[in-house]
Amino acid sequence: MITTKELRNKYLDFFKSKNHTIIDGACLIPENDPSILFTTAGMHPLVPYLLGEKHPGGVRLANYQKCIRTGDIEEVGDNSHLTFFEMLGNWSLGEYFKKEAIEMSFEFLTKELGIDKSKLAVTVFAGDDDAPKDEESYEVWKSLGIPEERIAFLGKEDNWWNPAGPTGPCGPDSEMFYWTGKEDAPKVYDPKDDKWLEIWNDVFMQYNKTDKGTYEPLKQKNVDTGMGLERTVAILNGYDNVYEVDTIKPIIEEVTSLVDDKENIKAIRIITDHIRAAVMIIGDDRGASPSNVDQGYVVRRLIRSAIRRSREVGASEDCISKVAKKVIEVNKDIYPEINNNRQRVLSEIKVETEKFSQVLGKGEEMIKEYIKDGKIDANEAFQLYTTYGFPIEEIQRLGVEVDMEGFQKQIKEHQDLSRKGAEQKFKGGLADHSEETTKLHTATHLLHAALRMVLGEHVAQKGSNITADRARFDFSHPEKLTDEQKEEITNIINNIIDSKLPISHTEMSVEEAKNSGALGLFNQKYGDKVKVYTVGSGDKVFSMEICGGPHVENTGDLGTFRIKKEQASSAGIRRIKAVLE
Ligand code: SER
Repeated sequence: MITTKELRNKYLDFFKSKNHTIIDGACLIPENDPSILFTTAGMHPLVPYLLGEKHPGGVRLANYQKCIRTGDIEEVGDNSHLTFFEMLGNWSLGEYFKKEAIEMSFEFLTKELGIDKSKLAVTVFAGDDDAPKDEESYEVWKSLGIPEERIAFLGKEDNWWNPAGPTGPCGPDSEMFYWTGKEDAPKVYDPKDDKWLEIWNDVFMQYNKTDKGTYEPLKQKNVDTGMGLERTVAILNGYDNVYEVDTIKPIIEEVTSLVDDKENIKAIRIITDHIRAAVMIIGDDRGASPSNVDQGYVVRRLIRSAIRRSREVGASEDCISKVAKKVIEVNKDIYPEINNNRQRVLSEIKVETEKFSQVLGKGEEMIKEYIKDGKIDANEAFQLYTTYGFPIEEIQRLGVEVDMEGFQKQIKEHQDLSRKGAEQKFKGGLADHSEETTKLHTATHLLHAALRMVLGEHVAQKGSNITADRARFDFSHPEKLTDEQKEEITNIINNIIDSKLPISHTEMSVEEAKNSGALGLFNQKYGDKVKVYTVGSGDKVFSMEICGGPHVENTGDLGTFRIKKEQASSAGIRRIKAVLE
């Protein structure tokens, strides 16, 4: 038997003994990358270093990292997918490469974990137009005693790590599989035999995927490895599913004790998984609250889907909050932040549970009105969904028939419209191109940079609206600004105005813009080339931002900046109204 704590400690101790610096894991909500909602792998917070920046911990790093993957959410309830999981990882930043990485992986598996090599198989990249066949990894595995029949060459779908966002470091990988069957492992590895389960992935990051979808060689050849903690513990212990693992079992037992229908394993697993993930997201130090946008929307969906399942299995009213408490209890030693943020976690979950219960109540009343011959039509289902957020599955669960085809059609039309709206919104947010709006537009760039200097780099623009009289600027920040902060921000901006810094712009690719540190809404679709506006020049650059313009030529043209109002815009988003006098 091995516990999650034992595996984590063994891993970190092993890589420490191989001269790796153990670094802290990052927050679940990425700090400098609006192109993705959550940290999905240990390598993600390390992207700048994989691209060549120096890491203070050196060139050999290892850690454990909280991860959220929502891509697999529909699979949750099966034996192996979890929305929240922990990843163990080690990295070489331009130092060791394939040979040493594979040798260390092999040593850890066979010596530290004592796995017999007869239970191991591996895969390596087969090669294609973008990158050659990985003969080198193949030879290393063979030299370690893995027989040829246990090494498979597979294509990009299996043996290539792609960046989480559209661009970034990537490359071929080599995956390690463990034989979970009761009988002896077959001599020849068969990738289709699901008794071979993946336990670790060594990625050889030597390319950068550009925004044109091409691969260019990176300045340095890196190694990025990732081992899913819960899944590996389950496999090593011979469990047939991840819910048996020491950090999840108490939660699933709690859920089971709170529901009537104890046979509905899938629903019980979904409640366990979703509340576990919701607690980790809300309780993160950059935590998000349930809302209708971004990370908040994911939390909302997780909680609401858990509530729906809890109704399906006849759970008590307080089931969700009891499960949340259990999640905190089980995980607080390793993730103390969820306990430090306990009050917030529990109150957000309570509020969301109440809100959803109102939605359901209201929706059920409306259904009674809409229902004709045991059916409701697409318009009305759509109405319930968009106006009240009433889940369509709930209508079906009540035994009411819905015109699903018509409903899906309306949803699609609705989404197309919102997308067009969003494109419009991000075109610039300028009401016109008068001198006044142009000045205020430049002022918002100064404001954006000053907010990040004073409040921290978590501040990101969430919207802006500029008229001739004032600029309105929305940004992510969890709390009200103090008078001192407002004063500091105002002073910084007025100093920049007094310094009469020039404003210039250049065109570059999104990738170049991102690498140069320009701010931008990286989750927006930009064209091939973007304009980057720079305030200042040489070593006196104050701000760089992707933007369509227009801007004034010199900050000296702006007058005096003043914050007129600072208020909440929505959960986790603040709004500043500012003027130039
Ligand atoms: N990035 C790779 C993965 O997530 C290895 O860490 O599998």
